[in-house]
Order: sequence, then structure tokens, then C-alpha cells
Amino acid sequence: MTQIIKASHLCLGYKKNEDIIRDANFCINKKDFVFISGASGSGKSTLLRSLYGDLKISSGELEVNHIPIHHATKGQIAALRRHTGIVFQDYKLIEEWDIEHNIMLPMLINGYNKNLCKSQAKELLSHINLLHKNNKYPLELSGGEQQRVAIARAISHKPDIILADEPTGNLDDYSSELIWSLLKSANKHLGITIIVVTHRIPEHLNIFYRKLNIQEGEVYEFS
Ligand SMILES: Nc1ncnc2c1ncn2[C@@H]1O[C@H](COP(=O)(O)OP(=O)(O)O)[C@@H](O)[C@H]1O
Ligand SMILES: [Mg+2]
Repeated sequence: MTQIIKASHLCLGYKKNEDIIRDANFCINKKDFVFISGASGSGKSTLLRSLYGDLKISSGELEVNHIPIHHATKGQIAALRRHTGIVFQDYKLIEEWDIEHNIMLPMLINGYNKNLCKSQAKELLSHINLLHKNNKYPLELSGGEQQRVAIARAISHKPDIILADEPTGNLDDYSSELIWSLLKSANKHLGITIIVVTHRIPEHLNIFYRKLNIQEGEVYEFS
């Protein structure tokens, strides 16, 4: 098994001497499907942000996809993000672009040919049952529909890792089901490493997954 993420004595926080995550040590392998849980305010989003270089590391070491985040250059962080799909609880779609172009964005950034981007976006739109709305703008869609687009966008360029922060937080059952099935299939068929912050692990997922919990600043694995 090949490691894709390794944290050693990792400490994270926003203020000096006030670490939210303290001395975390864990490894995540390629193709792992990992849930991160913990009480509200425990540091789940903080930990996830560190994995795409959105947070300065207080101390310790964190390696993600061969990049040492604790002393990475801006160029290395940009490269890391090109190979990462990120999903936020509040979708963060580009409101001025229709949903087809939103899905095309990571592919365009990665230099895919325009026709390939279009056909791939169309295929993903049909997977999320929104092909008939391809030229609609994000604000013309429901929250659940917008999040389905956000997941399709995160998968479109076949990243090495997908990081999702409470992706089904307040969605309808139908959209949640579609999102879990898309993440499962990205993991199973494309071998993408999936890391999802959630306060409730869905039942009947039918895959093998790992669970990390954060409690009082400590990260530990449980079964
Ligand atoms: N940008 C920030 N600046 C200062 N403190 C923050 C910031 N973001 C989060 N925090 C604090 O860090 C702690 C963990 O937050 P967060 O990682 O968002 O928790 P969770 O996602 O588990 O609910 C909380 O006490 C929160 O108030
Ligand atoms: Mg959070």
C-alpha cells in the first residue's frame, strides 16, 4: 500500500500557543476512504484545510501527495491543488458560470482540450441527473443540486485526492444518496483517495472505510 498522506507530530492552530490539533500522527494510503468525525468546533475543518495547504502548520510535519506542506513553496501548493478535488459545505460554485462550465473548470486548469472538457462535463451531468439543466446558473438550482455539481466538479479532472467538508450537511436524501454513490464510485473505479468530514456516517455504504475522530485536540483512529 502506498502512502499518500503522512502526519507526524502535526500541530495546527490559528494563534500562537493555542493549537486546535495537537501532536497528530496518522497515515492515509492511496485509495483509502476515510471519514473524519468529531464534535462541532473540534477541528475537523481545520484538519481538512491543512491537507490542501490552506493553513500554516504550527509544528510537526505533514506530507500530502509527495509535498511537504510544512515547508512547501507556493508553486508546490498550487500543484497539490491541481491534483486535489475540494468540496465545501456551501458548494462555492462560480455564480457567473453555468453548471456545465463550473464542472469544466478543473479540467481547463489542468490543460484538457476543450472538447474533452465538454464531453466529460456532459457525462458527469448525466450521472448527477442534471443534464437537462446544463445551461442553468448555480443560483437557479436547489442546494442539493448545487452540491451535486460541486461533487462532479471535484471529480472531473480525476484528482488523486478528494477532500469534502460535510458535503451532505443539510441536503435532501436524494441528493445525499447521489453524492455518496459518486464518491464511492470515484474511489472504487478511479482509485481516488477520499477524505470526508461528517458528523454522521451514512448507513449501508457497502464499502470498507476508515474512521478518524478528533477529541480535545487529539486525532485517533477507531473502528
Ligand atoms: N479562521 C479562524 N480563526 C480563528 N479561529 C478559528 C478559525 N477557524 C476556526 N477557528 C476555531 O478553531 C476551532 C476548530 O474549528 P473548526 O475546525 O472549524 O471545527 P469543526 O469543523 O470541527 O466544527 C474552533 O474553536 C473555531 O472557533
Ligand atoms: Mg467544520
